[in-house]
Amino acid sequence: METEKKKIKRIGVLTSGGDAPGMNAAVRAVVRTAVAHGIECVGIRRGWQGLINSDFIPLKKDSVSHILPAGGTMLYTARSEEFMQPGGRQKAVATCKMLGLDGIVTIGGDGTFRGALELSRLGVPTVGIPATIDNDVGCSHYTIGFDTACNTAVECIDRLRDTMQSHERCSVVEVMGRNAGFLALYVGIAVGASTVLVPERKVDFQKDVIERIQYSRLAGNTHFMIVVAEGAGSAVDIGKQIHDALGIEPRVTVLGHIQRGGSPTARDREMATRMGYSAVKAMAEGRYNSIVATKEGSIIEIPIEEALQMKKHLQMDRYNIMQTMQLGGISDYTDDF
Ligand code: F6P
Repeated sequence: METEKKKIKRIGVLTSGGDAPGMNAAVRAVVRTAVAHGIECVGIRRGWQGLINSDFIPLKKDSVSHILPAGGTMLYTARSEEFMQPGGRQKAVATCKMLGLDGIVTIGGDGTFRGALELSRLGVPTVGIPATIDNDVGCSHYTIGFDTACNTAVECIDRLRDTMQSHERCSVVEVMGRNAGFLALYVGIAVGASTVLVPERKVDFQKDVIERIQYSRLAGNTHFMIVVAEGAGSAVDIGKQIHDALGIEPRVTVLGHIQRGGSPTARDREMATRMGYSAVKAMAEGRYNSIVATKEGSIIEIPIEEALQMKKHLQMDRYNIMQTMQLGGISDYTDDF
């Protein structure tokens, strides 16, 4: 992390990659904290592409009124191919110079932070705020949006359970998460899933799915809820395989982008506000090229290069708890995935 005691007069803020509930709350916190420090704030729209295209709006204290409970991002978001190229990044630097930006707060996931690292290497100070429903940012225990997405998925699955229970059916539900199983595992525990399939653990179809359903049947259950992380396989394929193996007709639901919308939960609003505040405070105090991450509920600053090397594992104790709830015996995998 670099430190320099130069007076920060104007900063930019952008959201990039997949949106996450709470991004607006983070933007609000960045703007209001900047105003409190006497720093001007500029909103860069449509992520890195907006920086390339000089797509910006001035943000004052009142520009962010009423966005705290709003899902999505008022700054729009995008995944920019052009920014991956050196020419695109040069254009982005030119915009920073043109706007007189002394730094940029970037809100997003690992992809966003890789972009921020490149920009910082070109001399533009950055501070990152982790926000993705996948919770897969290695340096941070928590990412903005995860709690809301979990709650949305739980609400949907509770509804599914009602009708699965009435018809004594098997439900296979696919949740998002990209290559990570955090969302699936947390949701699976919260809905009492018969089993949860995550990309971090190789799926043994017979043992992890078929035997779970058979066991659950023997225990007297007449409906079954299988939660699949999108990175672990397709719910449609798993439904077909269950049909072939057991002769039952599972109903398949892919929750999809519904998980990314909606008003952020209290946890996401609170976390986003603290992270936004911390990011601007760090910049104002001359600390930058870092990520404001969470560690056991506290906010810490990690140099961006180091942060991008960090790995976060799916916690085995949670997987064991999920299994124990269904199997009635103690499950004791010892290593995190
Ligand atoms: O990273 C967030 C996420 O919602 C993932 O869970 C999912 O795999 C991906 O984004 C979907 O991306 P898109 O919105 O481009 O379809």
